[in-house]
Amino acid sequence: MSPAKTPQARVTELRQQLDDASYRYHVLDEPNIPDAEYDRLLRELDELEAAHPELVTPDSPTQRVGAVASGRFAEVRHALPMLSLGNAFDDAEVEDFVRRIAERLGRRTLKFSAEPKLDGLAISLRYEQGVFVQGATRGDGTTGEDVTANLRTVRAIPLRLRVAGMGNGESGVGKGKSGAASAIPHSPFPIPSVLEVRGEVYMPRAAFEAYNEQARLHGGKVLANPRNGAAGSLRQLDARITAQRPLAFYAYGVGEVEEGALPDTHSGTLQRLREWGFPVSDLSQVVEGAEGLLRYYREIGQKRDSLPFDIDGVVYKLDDVAGQREMGFVSRAPRWALAHKYPAQEQATTVEDIEIQIGRTGAATPVARLAPVQVAGVTVTNATLHNADQIARLDVRVGDAVIVRRAGDVIPEVVSVILERRPAGTAPWQMPAQCPVCGSDIVREEGAAVWRCSGELSCPAQRKEAIRHFVSRRAMDVDGLGEKFIEVLVDAGVVQGVADLYTLDLDQLLQLRLVTGAETPEGFLREAREHLAAGAYAKLEATLARVRGDGDAVPETWQADLLRAGLPAFDWNRKKIATKWAENLVAALEASKRTTLERFLFALGIEHVGESTAKALAAWFGDLELVRRLPWPVFKRVPDIGGEVARALGRFFEQSGNQQAIDDLLARGVEMVDSHPPSALLREGLDLATLLVDLEIPKLTRIRATALAAAMPQIAQILAADQDALVAAGLPKDTAAALVEWRDADDHAHLLQATGEALARLDAITPQAGAIQAGPLTGQTVVLTGSLESMTRDEAGARLEALGAKVAGSVSKKTAFVVAGSEAGSKLTKAQDLGIEVWDEARLIAFLDQHA
Ligand code: IVH
Repeated sequence: MSPAKTPQARVTELRQQLDDASYRYHVLDEPNIPDAEYDRLLRELDELEAAHPELVTPDSPTQRVGAVASGRFAEVRHALPMLSLGNAFDDAEVEDFVRRIAERLGRRTLKFSAEPKLDGLAISLRYEQGVFVQGATRGDGTTGEDVTANLRTVRAIPLRLRVAGMGNGESGVGKGKSGAASAIPHSPFPIPSVLEVRGEVYMPRAAFEAYNEQARLHGGKVLANPRNGAAGSLRQLDARITAQRPLAFYAYGVGEVEEGALPDTHSGTLQRLREWGFPVSDLSQVVEGAEGLLRYYREIGQKRDSLPFDIDGVVYKLDDVAGQREMGFVSRAPRWALAHKYPAQEQATTVEDIEIQIGRTGAATPVARLAPVQVAGVTVTNATLHNADQIARLDVRVGDAVIVRRAGDVIPEVVSVILERRPAGTAPWQMPAQCPVCGSDIVREEGAAVWRCSGELSCPAQRKEAIRHFVSRRAMDVDGLGEKFIEVLVDAGVVQGVADLYTLDLDQLLQLRLVTGAETPEGFLREAREHLAAGAYAKLEATLARVRGDGDAVPETWQADLLRAGLPAFDWNRKKIATKWAENLVAALEASKRTTLERFLFALGIEHVGESTAKALAAWFGDLELVRRLPWPVFKRVPDIGGEVARALGRFFEQSGNQQAIDDLLARGVEMVDSHPPSALLREGLDLATLLVDLEIPKLTRIRATALAAAMPQIAQILAADQDALVAAGLPKDTAAALVEWRDADDHAHLLQATGEALARLDAITPQAGAIQAGPLTGQTVVLTGSLESMTRDEAGARLEALGAKVAGSVSKKTAFVVAGSEAGSKLTKAQDLGIEVWDEARLIAFLDQHA
């Protein structure tokens, strides 16, 4: 900003930038600035307003933080009633609906606006002269509750309309040179004196899951479903609580509006609302006739599980407003609109048993075995109970009638118990003391919600899960290694750890399939005979006889026993056995060896290290040999990695078994194709004071650590100092005592030393910030789509990033070019629509070669 700018001018500019960013994020779904940048601008505005209170206006983006309402909410009488909808559950009812309108209006063709029916809470937002003045719940349709303060905290709800002359930029054409300046025109239509917008406040599914996960970990209140989450959040008297809930909003209609302010179709109105700054679902469509409606219903039904929010149906509305007026209402529902419902996402059933499942990190997850029930079109027989605390909270018992919920592709869960239906004689559930798989003790870390099997990788359940995770698509991406086969590999002892996967060869795979595919030892022998010379066959017969024993019953473990006993060499008769799958699997294993650091770190299955943490670690440190030797405090140098995750990383790399597994993988040929020096950004935190803070030494605040580092710039000095010396160095007495106590406990002196050495090493290999060369693609955003022949998309992305590009997931006007492999889909189409340059693989390779 130029120094001459008046506070008023800067306030206006900031508000415009913030409103634009919000609009891009919530309405256009094309975020243009990172959250941190948004927060920075907001903070600047907040500070300016604090210094100049006369500049504060109620529609400023700073005015979203909540106030506390006293007692209860005031009543609001809706200027126009908030109606409900008639329901249809089958095609015939939809056809009737269309026929009724066609007859009444005497028209042959009818256009409808078809929209998703979000499952949240209906609200009405009132804007006067373009400024948000009041928000209310539906209530009984005539009178609702005034929840204005709560609704102000919902970021997707605009505090003023995006209309030229609304103080949010005049023509709307960006004047500033920064990327945040507006390039989005404001609506050219005049500000209506009154506008009531109706829509649904909802909680996106992912936000709901994340919220509950936190609540379960920290013993907070768990929300039953996103709908209850939205409703409960809006009814909070303390709007500061609402502000912390991840709520979103979609507009779907209007209430009272200044005469003549809106187009004469519903779809036109939605478009206008969008221009004025309201999020409108981009799933809405104009369709024709009953056929069009039913096609829409099926199309959305197919997408239902993958939508980011819950819907309970779709809504059809006659598109032209004149026709709507002519149709009128019956009781409280319009004759021109209809809700067409999908099967419910919650159903009642009974708990037949509660079992324990052991996960990759040993976490013991209780699972309810249920009487089979159809939930949203799928038969559900199991539902997660999350953890022992959750069971205690819900008091779920074997025999109980419960409500299960299945939404999207998440695992079905038990939501609540129907207490009135509890049979006599049930008992509260208790976590078993031993792992049902390996018999090791199930233990609980102090203060943690999770119980774990203490068997670690000696527990087959944990080993299987670790392998399953390792080969999964987002990890090493080995196609064709299914769950069942992993079971066999582990049970037969063929694969003990992940590195053993890379020893599998065609013979072994075919043998395994032959053994595990056989129902009986005799059946197996018959099949095996096709592929064995006489001598080898006799040997096999003898081994099998030993395994089988001389009892009447065949031991259940005969297959694993036989594999452990060892098989003779087979000479495959390819006409008698399918080999393609095994060849593909061997090829997939081979291909997975060339991987990225990010995938590799994720694949290791380190506790708390998900994809985004793995990505950050790879970006900041760049090299496996570095990462695997870092003491835990250093991991905290990566933004978003806190003490808990850093310690988990440290624990993982401290275990010699894990280091051995990494060595084995490297020895079998796994390699990272994207190794690079640490990020220059790392430099910012490579000083002694930061290190001391990262070590989490009691009482040692940042200020004190800075003083200490100034007085004792060598770690050796701190290691040798006694309490008096530390006091002389400027620490308060209790802090000095705490430091000495900490240093002499556990292995802390060693940790301090090791961390110091790691920092020195990093200091030597991390490039200077100024030394980062701008690459040929610096400042350009690139999108990859379709599949490439010569490398994976990840590899291509990593190489483009190395040349300075930013790789994005979706195409927008800002995309510099799109790399399209075979079977590219909608991203390619979008690029073509927007006239964006498209590269094929050959061009990409040529470019990469040229800049290698
Ligand atoms: S229109 C005059 N459209 O469904 C029509 N309602 O009973 C009034 N809902 O709780 C409603 N999505 O909040 C309409 N696209 C949509 C909707 C929708 C969800 C909710 C609405 C109300 C219920 C209707």
